[in-house]
Amino acid sequence: MRRAAPGAAEPELRFTAEAPPPQPDEFQSKLLQTEKMAALGRMVSGIAHELNNPLTAIMGYAQLLLSHGLRQDQLVEARRVFQEAERASRIVKNLLYFAREKNPERTCVNLNEIVERALALRSYELRVQNNAVECDLAPNLPQTLADPHQLQQAVLNLVMNAEQALVLSRGKGTISIRTRTKSEKRIALEIADDGPGVPKEIAPRIFEPFFTTKPPGIGTGLGLSIVYGIVQQHDGEVTLENSAGGARFVIDLPVVAGQDAVENGGKTRGVAAIVRVPSRRIMVVEDEPTIAQLVVDVLREEGHHVDAVLDSQEGLAQISHASYDLVICDLRMPRLDGPAFYDSLVRSGSPLADRIIFITGDTLAPRTAQFLQVSGLPFLAKPFLVQELMLVVNQKLRAIHDADGGEATDGAKTEKARTMSRKA
Ligand SMILES: Nc1ncnc2c1ncn2[C@@H]1O[C@H](COP(=O)(O)OP(=O)(O)O)[C@@H](O)[C@H]1O
Ligand SMILES: [Mg+2]
Repeated sequence: MRRAAPGAAEPELRFTAEAPPPQPDEFQSKLLQTEKMAALGRMVSGIAHELNNPLTAIMGYAQLLLSHGLRQDQLVEARRVFQEAERASRIVKNLLYFAREKNPERTCVNLNEIVERALALRSYELRVQNNAVECDLAPNLPQTLADPHQLQQAVLNLVMNAEQALVLSRGKGTISIRTRTKSEKRIALEIADDGPGVPKEIAPRIFEPFFTTKPPGIGTGLGLSIVYGIVQQHDGEVTLENSAGGARFVIDLPVVAGQDAVENGGKTRGVAAIVRVPSRRIMVVEDEPTIAQLVVDVLREEGHHVDAVLDSQEGLAQISHASYDLVICDLRMPRLDGPAFYDSLVRSGSPLADRIIFITGDTLAPRTAQFLQVSGLPFLAKPFLVQELMLVVNQKLRAIHDADGGEATDGAKTEKARTMSRKA
């Protein structure tokens, strides 16, 4: 983080290529800061993953309850459980932004358009609060490959902080937003306000998750940590240029040239109609008992025959002597993890290698992301909605059904034969 030299008047931005190199103590404190943020990132990522399993189960069972025709008063209570679990899962998602484990899209974006969209979203509040916005957007700003939603989130967080700083201090003020081309390879976005600025004592801590000086209900302390995570994810840098005249945040981004591409392999989010499919035999391999049970309960309600094992080696053994149409498999498991389980299916020539859906808590730790991207296999990210689970499963089962020319698949045939022999 770059801060104003003690006693300096409002500093000129010093982010051109000719900027003097950092002094040793400044360099060292920057290094310490980076290390501290990395350690915090690891801790936060651990906490978020631990919370994901129970949250997935709470949300899942609340949704099952909601679909069971409850009395009106019970309905209200079950809905509250679901909504609060959802709120907690949003916090977890935000923490994963900081831990840089949200898989960014990569699309050709124009930073100016992102700023304009973010401002449009705040236009009502800005007007009501009487805050003025001055925009100076560079007309020929080069486009860059980036995640437009994430960048918009970062801009929104900075604008909202500026708004709050103004409202809480002087009641109103001016927010200045500027984009500019620094060089052929770098662009920058500045968001400044003429509020009180950030006190020197707290400046080194503002990017930490949960650090806030605002009263409960206004501040969560997550805004800047999300900005930090998003900018890091884009190989950029966010700095605070503090001054007596207010706070100025600068986001510096590389210009990445490329095709207009979105890499998000097995996208499962999004609402689509769920088309019911005929009953199938499904194997669930998941070491977390509550999640395994949730998936079993949901899919049994859908009319499928579902078995679950908590151990992947046991899963392989079971698959070898019973037929299934589909496997739903956790990615992170002790002993044999998801990728190893998948390899083993491929090596043994099992048709289930093409009939697998993964569940993952760390969608987007680099190793997991790479595996999912290279294999192109569908996956569900925890915490998922019951709807999402049904959607992915039904899509996959329909694809399998179509590939089989509308014939019942192996597992269903075997099940039919079993039922018949039981009847006989
Ligand atoms: N524009 C600003 N002016 C003054 N202080 C700021 C500004 N932006 C952020 N801060 C300081 O940084 C802290 C952390 O910000 P943030 O992570 O967004 O959390 P929150 O806004 O929920 O407090 C704020 O509580 C505030 O003390
Ligand atoms: Mg904030």
